[in-house]
Amino acid sequence: MRPFHYREGILRADEVPLDQVAARFGTPVYVYSEMAIHERYTAFSHALGPETLLCYAVKASSNLHLLSCLAHWGAGFDIVSGGELARVLRAGGDPQRIVFSGVGKSREEIAAALNAGIFCLNVESEAELERVDTIASELGCRAPVALRVNPDVEPGTHRYIATGLRESKFGIPMAQAENLYLAAERWPAIDFRGIACHIGSQLTDLAPIAEAARKVRGLYERLSKAGMAISHLDLGGGVGIRYHDEQVPTPADYAAVLHDALTGLPVRLVVELGRSIVGNAGVLLTRVEYLKDNEGKKFCIVDAAMNDLLRPSLYGAWHDILPVQEAELPAETGTLDVVGPICESGDFFARGRLLAAKAGDLLAILGAGAYGFAMASQYNSRLRPPEVLIRGNEARLIRRRETLADLLAPEENPG
Ligand code: LLP
Repeated sequence: MRPFHYREGILRADEVPLDQVAARFGTPVYVYSEMAIHERYTAFSHALGPETLLCYAVKASSNLHLLSCLAHWGAGFDIVSGGELARVLRAGGDPQRIVFSGVGKSREEIAAALNAGIFCLNVESEAELERVDTIASELGCRAPVALRVNPDVEPGTHRYIATGLRESKFGIPMAQAENLYLAAERWPAIDFRGIACHIGSQLTDLAPIAEAARKVRGLYERLSKAGMAISHLDLGGGVGIRYHDEQVPTPADYAAVLHDALTGLPVRLVVELGRSIVGNAGVLLTRVEYLKDNEGKKFCIVDAAMNDLLRPSLYGAWHDILPVQEAELPAETGTLDVVGPICESGDFFARGRLLAAKAGDLLAILGAGAYGFAMASQYNSRLRPPEVLIRGNEARLIRRRETLADLLAPEENPG
């Protein structure tokens, strides 16, 4: 069953009617289905097999309660900051199942990761390698490292989230990475364990992932000929989901492509999946404040805004919007822009959308489970919304709504 579906004319998350969630917790509010997350996690985990380390990309949605469900189901974690490390440890994640990505790791973040005993640091430059080597030798340990290579592959996604092209800041060009591996003795406190790669996000075509995997395989083979023992290949994340009408890969398609590319290699596969686990397991529930007609241009002003869900403003991303109370679609002339209260014309969730809506109605913005709350801010001094987790017929608050006291405290007591 789809996690968000109508029954008796009301949109529900699993068994729970969303109008009840709004009445209890107010709007705007993020609502996630634990069952939907579990289904996606287990579908990927079964398809990839027990030998694969499936790391959940914490940046997609980082609530402690979601992380603790994932830890409980056996997930590993892909982190990009000391903050994400703290979240995963607090949620009971196993440090030996954590990989740490990112181009700008600070000294403190590297030391914290080494002290926690994480599985691997994905290093993105020679300068970072030097820094990790120094810190590991100060701490008297050897740092488990994979170099993140940049395979220069066109991923076919929005420019802002393409990461494996030559011009992007991510990774190390293949030839340069090969030279670094071959000069391993220059960094005595580095234990080169893996090769890592992540070419972008919301990839609807698996061919670029296969191409990147083949390039990583080529590097692995050259390094093993040179006598270097690499024990894992981390092929990143990026599996796209359906927001609108995209054709997207299934977990089985994805696993087959990776397994094919790595056939016969005695290595452990690592992946870093974010959006494909949580993206369609969450909605942002919002209430219509006003309708407004500016000489024929119709606006539906809701109580959520770009500070709550940035994706439409930042990437022009499409999110389906459904009325919580099922309604007939209006005629074509009835298209609306769904916009928030923020003082920018870029503050919109949909433009020219066919939607039945009147003041007071509840709307659900779909596909908000990944990079939704995680990218929320307090812009315009708005309070970030609460998060609610649905388990069967129970709705549980997993983050409370911010208060004016939360907003003002860091300035009233700057320390
Ligand atoms: N690994 C690395 C190194 C990454 O940079 C990312 C995402 C992932 C894994 C997870 O990718 P996923 O499986 O979720 O596609 N805010 C954007 C997405 C940014 C993705 C950044 N990196 C959006 O809302 O579309």
